[in-house]
Amino acid sequence: MAEKILVTENVRLYYGEKEALHGINLDYRKYGITALIGPSGSGKSTYLRALNRMHDLTDYVTVTGTFLLNGEDIYAPNMDTVQLRKQIGMVFQQPMPFPFSIYDNVAFGLRTDGVKDKAILDEKVESSLKAAAIWDEVKDDLHKSALSLSGGQQQRISIARALATSPEILLLDEPTSALDPVSANLVENTLIQLREQYTMIIVTHSMSQASRISDRTAFFNQGKLIEVNDTKKMFLNPDQQMTQDYISGRFG
Ligand SMILES: Nc1ncnc2c1ncn2[C@@H]1O[C@H](COP(=O)(O)OP(=O)(O)OP(=O)(O)O)[C@@H](O)[C@H]1O
Ligand SMILES: [Mg+2]
Repeated sequence: MAEKILVTENVRLYYGEKEALHGINLDYRKYGITALIGPSGSGKSTYLRALNRMHDLTDYVTVTGTFLLNGEDIYAPNMDTVQLRKQIGMVFQQPMPFPFSIYDNVAFGLRTDGVKDKAILDEKVESSLKAAAIWDEVKDDLHKSALSLSGGQQQRISIARALATSPEILLLDEPTSALDPVSANLVENTLIQLREQYTMIIVTHSMSQASRISDRTAFFNQGKLIEVNDTKKMFLNPDQQMTQDYISGRFG
């Protein structure tokens, strides 16, 4: 059995009284891409955000169940959530560069960790931009504002920023849906290159994207996990009729 990097069991999440996730069981081996698909409102983002405790700041949210990162309880009271979010990094739908230079965006997490050595920062910024497949486009402009870049470039900067603090897991919530097709394709290629070295969980509404880039696909509906399967199997011959109906466009 390959090592489980992340285990989630019987995950329930309540917005106030309303239960939005009804007992999700899903675990992840090291490396590769798991795609989360399902209709709008099925709980994909809610589940994703629970993985690195992004709901902590919302006082009316209650999360229950088991969440283990390398066997350690993510919801332990003494967990340092700032460090946790470096181990489990996140990339959002809208690229969100900070309003400062490309370099400073990527160096941000390292600096908050107290790294001051310029040689180390330079090296990490370069390797992260290379890993995010954006280095060649920005290497001569590292001190330009990240806001001057295109949406697709900004999204790859967001990925570089997340990679700079050496995460084990990367969560991506519809990372290409706000992009034009060419930029979306470049971001997809970046993710494909990263999948040998990182464990990624990506929410997508694009069936073709899920089938192109993911190893495994999980189908959510109404706060439940209906099916998780090898991506090829999922799109050719899923186990559940409901999955078949969804991927063939019969609902959602
Ligand atoms: N902050 C919130 N407060 C209350 N209810 C919420 C909140 N966020 C989401 N919900 C509800 O939780 C359910 C799941 O929403 P969620 O955003 O996780 O779905 P999703 O699968 O990510 O949808 P989409 O594909 O549209 O992004 C929905 O019924 C939604 O209305
Ligand atoms: Mg969502």
